[in-house]
Amino acid sequence: MTGFTVALVLVVATAGLLRWRRPAWYWLTFGVTFATVRVLVRYASVMDACGLTVPPSRWRLALARATNRPVPESRAPRILRLRPTRTGLVLRLKLRPGQDAFDLAAASDRLRHSFSMYGVTSRELRSGVVELRMTGYDVLKRVQMPAKADTRPMRVPVALREDGSIHYRDYREVPHALTLGATESGKSVYQRNLVAGLAPMDVALVGIDCKQGVELFPLARRFSALADNPDTAVELLDALVKRMEGVYRIIRAEQRITADVPDAEIAAGIWDLPDELRPTPIVVLVDEVAELALFATREEEKRRDRIVTALVRLAQLGRAAGIYLEICGQRFGSELGKSITMLRAQLTGRTAHRVNDETSANMAFGDIAPDAVLAVIQIPADMRGVAITGDSTGGWARIRAPHTTLRHAVNICNRHAHRTPELPELAPFRPVLTGTSAGSAPLSKAAPATA
Ligand SMILES: Nc1ncnc2c1ncn2[C@@H]1O[C@H](COP(=O)(O)OP(=O)(O)O)[C@@H](O)[C@H]1O
Ligand SMILES: [Mg+2]
Repeated sequence: MTGFTVALVLVVATAGLLRWRRPAWYWLTFGVTFATVRVLVRYASVMDACGLTVPPSRWRLALARATNRPVPESRAPRILRLRPTRTGLVLRLKLRPGQDAFDLAAASDRLRHSFSMYGVTSRELRSGVVELRMTGYDVLKRVQMPAKADTRPMRVPVALREDGSIHYRDYREVPHALTLGATESGKSVYQRNLVAGLAPMDVALVGIDCKQGVELFPLARRFSALADNPDTAVELLDALVKRMEGVYRIIRAEQRITADVPDAEIAAGIWDLPDELRPTPIVVLVDEVAELALFATREEEKRRDRIVTALVRLAQLGRAAGIYLEICGQRFGSELGKSITMLRAQLTGRTAHRVNDETSANMAFGDIAPDAVLAVIQIPADMRGVAITGDSTGGWARIRAPHTTLRHAVNICNRHAHRTPELPELAPFRPVLTGTSAGSAPLSKAAPATA
């Protein structure tokens, strides 16, 4: 008997400790069973209390009356499937006549409390079927990416969503993106995750980092071209525009499109070309875009106009030529000068980290999802790396990228350095690598060479 008591106390203590220190392990060991039982036992009463039941239909009432039975109860949505996951539960429900997906979305906070889950989100799968994704603990507090990601060319699993699913940055679906955030909010870490995810893929990376190259230069071995000041950046962007024109010539020749069709009207892209002809896709990463758009003298203003024009052209025509823009900045609005809003309109993907004011949040979401603006403002200052991202369906989600250190990203880039394609147009901008050993890429203070 005492043996049993000791064992029981030990198990309870372990569970408590895990729940406190390692919520992910707690979920996998104890939490998932408790939560499943709790949801199944409480289901009918919770749905009733949340107003998610419908009164019995006329024919059931009539049947009860005819057979002299008690009046049937109201009915909750039918459970089609209950699936435990690594971070929570997924409940698939069939709605009753008269209910809609909005009812469940509006009740998600009440459901969260009633089932004692950390978060509940709902989404419509098809008409009449809604999926409730519940998380057992705060998955964004300590981001652990699932080992199994659905990898495809040009699709990077970059962050974790609040509901425990993976957030992908899919360049073929959303060619260009803008990432905003105050300083120290996690933009560079997000970008570093992208680079680490792209490094093993068949893609050329081009970086423009006018903050003296501290973020991207340590990753130089995987980059085909880098610029660390606006003068180099303008030459580099011109070279990219030239390459884009070259790619369009290849597409024309292959698809037999005549020379008088303007580039913008060529619908086919590099992905329609046969493998052996396909030019390497390029991802252009720009950190701190304001450094490119600000000017003090007349000379600098000319340079700024050239830079913005080149970026606008790349954003308008780059998709089919396989040139994708990934722009980071603290603000990206009309105060950066003319054509900036035009450029912003071309950047479909939007991600906003913590910002200091509503105007900055509006720059990311004001023109697409007004309720996302509110979510951006509510990001707490102590959760660096948390961001709101717009997705292709017009909705938005809260995400956080794993905290990849610069050293880890450098190691990944060095491991895949042999994949760095040599692009003749960009050869003058190839970063100069000092030394030959794997760890000898130029390093900043943040990542000492001894690791
Ligand atoms: N996803 C994240 N998870 C945990 N910590 C993060 C995350 N992103 C950023 N941080 C922390 O915030 C700091 C600043 O991030 P950084 O990306 O350099 O900001 P920014 O480029 O916006 O100025 C990082 O050094 C890191 O400590
Ligand atoms: Mg930064």
